[in-house]
Amino acid sequence: MAESMKGLKRTHRCTEVTSQNIGETVTVMGWVQKRRNLGSLIFVDLRDRSGLLQIVFDTDSVGEEGFAKAGTLRSEFVIAVVGRVEARSGAVNPTMLTGELEVRALEIRILSESLTPPFPIEEHSQTKDEVRLKYRYLDLRRPDLQRNLMMRSKIATLTRAFLAQEGFLEIETPTLCKSTPEGARDYLVPSRIHPGSFYALPQSPQIFKQLLMCSGYDRYFQLARCYRDEDLRADRQPEFTQIDMELSFVDIDDVIEVNERLLATLFQEVLQIKVELPFQRMSWQEAMDRFGSDKPDIRFGMELKNISDLVENCGFGVFTGALKEGGSVRGINVSGQAGMPRKKIDALVDFAKGIGAKGLAYLVIDENGNYKSSFAKFMTEEELKNIVERLEGKPGDLLLFAADKNSLVYTVLGALRLELAKQQGLLKNDEYKFLWITDFPLFEFSEEENRYVAMHHPFTMPVEEDLPLLDTDPGKVRAKAYDITLNGVEIGGGSVRIYQSDVQEKMFEVLGFTKESAYERFGFLLQAFQYGVPPHAGLAYGLDRLVMLMAKEYNIRDVIAFPKVKDASCLMSGAPDIVEEKQLEELSIAVKLK
Ligand code: AMO
Ligand code: AMP
Repeated sequence: MAESMKGLKRTHRCTEVTSQNIGETVTVMGWVQKRRNLGSLIFVDLRDRSGLLQIVFDTDSVGEEGFAKAGTLRSEFVIAVVGRVEARSGAVNPTMLTGELEVRALEIRILSESLTPPFPIEEHSQTKDEVRLKYRYLDLRRPDLQRNLMMRSKIATLTRAFLAQEGFLEIETPTLCKSTPEGARDYLVPSRIHPGSFYALPQSPQIFKQLLMCSGYDRYFQLARCYRDEDLRADRQPEFTQIDMELSFVDIDDVIEVNERLLATLFQEVLQIKVELPFQRMSWQEAMDRFGSDKPDIRFGMELKNISDLVENCGFGVFTGALKEGGSVRGINVSGQAGMPRKKIDALVDFAKGIGAKGLAYLVIDENGNYKSSFAKFMTEEELKNIVERLEGKPGDLLLFAADKNSLVYTVLGALRLELAKQQGLLKNDEYKFLWITDFPLFEFSEEENRYVAMHHPFTMPVEEDLPLLDTDPGKVRAKAYDITLNGVEIGGGSVRIYQSDVQEKMFEVLGFTKESAYERFGFLLQAFQYGVPPHAGLAYGLDRLVMLMAKEYNIRDVIAFPKVKDASCLMSGAPDIVEEKQLEELSIAVKLK
C-alpha cells in the first residue's frame, strides 16, 4: 500500500543533516538500506543519493501504529520520515558521514514498497555485470555509480562554465546528417519521405563546427553525442559524448593553452589536484620510438631501445631477417626481473604472439653478470655486451626483444610494457600524467584499400614545411594534429584545419578522391570555404574517457548511465530489436537476413 506524501516536504537529503540540526525536526525521504529490530527499538538506515542516515523508531515517539509500520519495512522500500535530530544514542559510526547522529522518528509513511532486489544495493558489488546491467536502474542506486554520475555532471557543468567564460558559444548541431568523415562505420537512419535514402548519425560534429567558423561564430563548443559503429572495448561505446570545440584565428599553441587551463580547472575543482602546466609534449615519432604507442603511459619507464644497428651483422637469423625486410629489432629492460620463472616468460611470449609477434627473444643477466639468452649462441661477446649496454642492463635484469616490421615491433613491445607494468603494480591510479602527442603522420597507408587514408581526418592541415612532400612522398608528411593523452588513454584529439582550397584539393587527390567524389561528399563545406574562411583549429575530448580516469574506473560503462555491452546491445531495454512490418513498409525497407 503506497501512502501519499501530501502535507510533507523534504527538508534535507540524508547527509545534509548535521550536528548543527540537533534538536530540530526534519523531514527526510529515501530508500531503506537496512532494518534492524532490537525489540523496543527499530533502526533503519535510510539512503538517498547523498548517503546514509540512521533513523530510530520507538513507540513513545512514533506511536504504536508508526512502530508497527516500521516493523514491516524491507530493503528498497521508499519512505518519508519526520523526526527529531539527536546525537547518536549507541556507538558512533566513524565510517558514516552522519555517524554521530540519528533521527528519532515522529511520523513515518511508506511511499512505495519494493520487491526483493535481485542483488544487494551496495558499494563494490560482486554481482555479475550481466545481472547488474539488466537491472541497471537498481545498479544505478549503488553509491559508486551515483558518485561517478555526480562527478560526470560536475565535470560537464564546470566545462560549460569555463568555456563560456573563455568566450565560447554553445551551439547544437544536427544528429540527422550526411555521413561524416571520421573513418568508423556510420549508424544509419532511414528516411520515410525519401525512400531509399538514409541519414547518418554523426561520428562527430566535425563539418558543422568548421562551418560555424566559416559563419563567424569564432569560438564554439558543444557536449555532443557521437555515434560510431565499431568494435567495442573498455574505452569505446557505440554512442558516446564529446566535449567538442573549434576556434578561429588560432594555431596549435592557442588550442593547447586554453585546453590545459580547462583540464587544470577540472582537476582542481573535482579532485582538488593541482596539475603542473604546461603539459609535456612529444612528437608522434618519439612516442612510438620510446614507448611503442601513440598514447604512451608515462607513469613508468621501461622504454623501448632500438638495437637494429648492433645486430645488423650478427648470426641470429630472426634478427637479421627482420632487418633485411626493412624492419627493426628493439627491446625493453624489465628491471629486476631476471628471476622471472620460465613459465611466466613463456606466458609473455604467448601474450606477444597473441598480438601478432612471431616470437620474443630474451636475455637474462644473473646476479653475477652472466648472460642466459635464447640467442646468445648466435652472437659474439662484443655484440651481447653492446646490446646489454644499449638497454642499460644490470645484474638481475630481464631483457626482451622483438624483431619484425616496425609497426609490429612497436605494437608488441608497447603492449608488453603495459602488461608488465600492470603485473608489477607500477600503475598508480592516483597519479595523473598528461602528455600531448604532436606531429602525427598526415596519412596512414591502408594495406586493405591499397591507398593512403587520413590518420585524423581529411581536413587536417599538413605541417607547412612538409607541403612539398604531398607530391613526392605523402607518407612522410606530418600533420598539424595533436592528441591529449592521460595515463595511456587518448582522452582527446584535434587539429589545425586546412582552409586553403588548393591544399584541400591536393589532400583529396592523395586520398584518392576525384574532384567529383570529394564534392559529392563534402561539397557544402568546400563551397562554404569559397566565401571567406578564417584559419581555424579545434579539439574534441571523449567526455566518458575523461570521467572514467578521474573516477578511477577502468571501463567507460561505469560512468555512463545506460551503456551498451560488447555486442552493442542494451541488456536492460533489449535494444536493438526487430520492428513491426508496418514500420518497415513505411520506410520502404525490406530485411534480407544472411
Ligand atoms: P576523434 O575521432 O579523435 O576526433 O575523437 C575525439 C575523442 O573522442 C573519444 N572517442 C570515443 N569515446 C568513447 N567511445 C568511442 N567509440 C570513441 N571514439 C572516440 C576519444 C577521442 O580522443 N572531430 C574530431 C576532433 C577534432 O578534430 O576536433 C574527432 O572526432 O577520447
Ligand atoms: P625460432 O627461430 O622461431 O625457433 O626462434 C628462435 C628464438 O627467437 C625463440 O626464442 C623465439 O621465441 C624467438 N623469436 C622468433 N621470432 C622472433 C621475433 N620476430 N622477434 C623476437 N624473437 C623471436
